[in-house]
Amino acid sequence: MKKLIIGLTGASGSAYFLRLADALSRRELELHLIATEHGTQVMEYETGVRLEERLLLWRQGPAKIIEEDNQNLFSPVASGSFQCDGMLILPCSMSAAAQISAGISETLLTRAADVMIKEKRPLVLVPRETPLSPVHLKNLYRLSKLGVTILPAMPGFYNRPQSMDDLIDFVAGKAMDSLGLQNDCYRRWEGKEKNEEKD
Ligand SMILES: Cc1cc2nc3c(=O)[nH]c(=O)nc-3n(C[C@H](O)[C@H](O)[C@H](O)COP(=O)(O)O)c2cc1C
Repeated sequence: MKKLIIGLTGASGSAYFLRLADALSRRELELHLIATEHGTQVMEYETGVRLEERLLLWRQGPAKIIEEDNQNLFSPVASGSFQCDGMLILPCSMSAAAQISAGISETLLTRAADVMIKEKRPLVLVPRETPLSPVHLKNLYRLSKLGVTILPAMPGFYNRPQSMDDLIDFVAGKAMDSLGLQNDCYRRWEGKEKNEEKD
């Protein structure tokens, strides 16, 4: 069974996290969820969803879901000996990105990310901030150079989204793609002939 770590931080865009966790909870996976205090608060503020309540729903699916305590550095996921197939942080705050890029690992989220980097395992960050300052860009660039995938929460419009759900699905689907998780969350680009008529 694949083991994944999913992080939620206090950046805007918790709807992406909800969509991803909804999709993953329907699969045979071991999911370790790490929510920061701000992540939980911002999600409740933005979506009205309480993590504890949503967990009850997700636990009805086939996934084995472990809710991690962000302050518990004794968790298995804090160690390189924990065999993990990948970690996704979405949305990822600039604060979390800065700490990870500097190797500061005082919480379980940042420690688990640090472990992914040192063990050369897939780590994907979905940052959400605008505009990005030189500090943000430098941190993201440094992470990218370390092999971390930076997948900004930037939905595409070429598939002609009709609703907010379409926009959310696009980013959640791209995040799943980045870890090689097959999905049909969003409509993929199928190409277009140069001389094809506009519809
Ligand atoms: C409503 C709200 C929206 C926020 N949106 C963002 C955001 O989009 N990006 C970001 O980097 N920080 C955002 N913040 C600030 C972070 O929550 C803050 O930096 C926090 O310390 C992040 O902590 P964490 O990484 O431990 O979750 C937001 C805060 C609030 C209250």
